Amino acid sequence: MNINWFPGHMKKTRELLQKNLKLVDIVYELIDSRIPLSSRNPEIEKIVHNKPRVVIMNKSDLSDPQINKEWIEYFKKQGVNTVLVDAIKNKGISRIISETNDAVKEKQERLLKRGIKNKPVRAMIVGIPNVGKSTLINTLAGKKSAKTGDRPGVTKGKQWIKLKGNIELLDTPGILWPKFEDQEVALKLAFTGAIKDEIMDIETLALKLIEKLLILAPDKIEARYNVSTENKTALQVMDDIALRRGCILKGQEIDYSRVANILLDEFRDGTIGFISLERPKNI
Ligand code: G4P
Repeated sequence: MNINWFPGHMKKTRELLQKNLKLVDIVYELIDSRIPLSSRNPEIEKIVHNKPRVVIMNKSDLSDPQINKEWIEYFKKQGVNTVLVDAIKNKGISRIISETNDAVKEKQERLLKRGIKNKPVRAMIVGIPNVGKSTLINTLAGKKSAKTGDRPGVTKGKQWIKLKGNIELLDTPGILWPKFEDQEVALKLAFTGAIKDEIMDIETLALKLIEKLLILAPDKIEARYNVSTENKTALQVMDDIALRRGCILKGQEIDYSRVANILLDEFRDGTIGFISLERPKNI
């Protein structure tokens, strides 16, 4: 299987991102906690340049809590502040404010020495498609959010959302692109649903997911589908799951399309369990 995924208007997207980056003091780099490496832009350091950055690991409701801790340690060692959040259930969100204040402390102190007090800290969210940028913006904005309105130098229509702690968030996220030329990365993005299914064969994708889960979490496959995985190939396990779930066509043939959909849906919504596909130890 060869996944080709190239977001349209890449040049325009990049230009807009660069333009908006100039307006902010800090960047929130949003990633998917199940695939912290594959959901990052490989050139993020170059893109953000030397602006303070907070890595926000989203979808914590789907990833393995122990592995999340390992990732937070990993980023900490690289000197990057990291927050684990669930943007839908509003979990971990307040830590974004405290980590922001921490990251811009030196700059604020320098401003204070020059007599500039209470200058709002301006932030923007960046990330590859589907990591939850819009969801997080909505969660951060909340219902009672006050928009501060247009400001000089901001592209017409741009709005700043006032957050706690004197932070203003750009209401439009910056769209990054993943390392899509790497097929391993592309596969993991496809497993999590970041790449739409229409562009590939979902039966092969589900089979590859089983292969991966047989290494990472065979116990979870066994528990969820009541099948044995010992000494079985991914295809045998897929067949067993299909039988358990009644995915059978006329003539006793296996309905691979149906079982593939079940597997992908149940992995993506966390029904199979908290599963992280990447772990710092393996880097
Ligand atoms: P984007 O702006 O970065 O592209 O992402 P967006 O907010 O649209 O979120 C992409 C999908 O991820 C959405 O699902 C959203 O509900 C889901 N999502 C965002 N944050 C979280 C989280 O913390 N936990 C979980 N479990 N899901 C989260 P969707 O509406 O089903 O997307 P789709 O079906 O249209 O792909």
